[in-house]
Amino acid sequence: MAARRTESDRAHRDDVLSMLLDACDEHGAGLDDAQLLDELTGLVLAGYETTATTISWTLHLLAHHPAARDDLIADLDEGSGRLLKATIKESGRLRPAVYNAMRTAAHDAELGGRPVPRGPSGTGSARVGDARSRPGRTGPAPCTPVAPDPQGPSHLE
Ligand code: HEM
Repeated sequence: MAARRTESDRAHRDDVLSMLLDACDEHGAGLDDAQLLDELTGLVLAGYETTATTISWTLHLLAHHPAARDDLIADLDEGSGRLLKATIKESGRLRPAVYNAMRTAAHDAELGGRPVPRGPSGTGSARVGDARSRPGRTGPAPCTPVAPDPQGPSHLE
């Protein structure tokens, strides 16, 4: 960061670090090193890791489900993005890149009939929440148009 701040060709650079170094608020103030590090950490963890994980799981699932892969390729060949979008959503549902999320209760509350005291209150899993939100199901329902039977197995499971 220190090196990039002083580089003479920064004005011509369009990488994210250079753009963040040039960013300023409505009062003209730029980011200090701590703020810059926060932004870069957010980008690397929130942006790149989630995206890379989602792509990796999507390719992994498609490799294990050749019929779904063939449907997707055929759909793409027709110029449609419909199945690609559905496949990524389905992959994100089955193998969420962010599989749990920390939550802190701002005040004493109740969730599903259980007391939740004020303070750090653990994690919630997107995967478990999805399966449990469909009473009577043994696994998650499909969210893509590929599997026509809403009670049937997901096309990627
Ligand atoms: C497949 C890709 C992605 C997935 C699955 C994903 C997932 C999520 C999830 C689940 C949250 C909420 C976390 C929580 O509530 O505790 C979140 C928040 C966030 N994501 Fe992503 N994300 C993705 C891509 C990105 C990208 C590309 C960026 C930025 C370049 C980004 C930036 C953020 C930020 C800044 C937050 C926090 C928002 C806030 O302040 O509440 N995400 N993301």
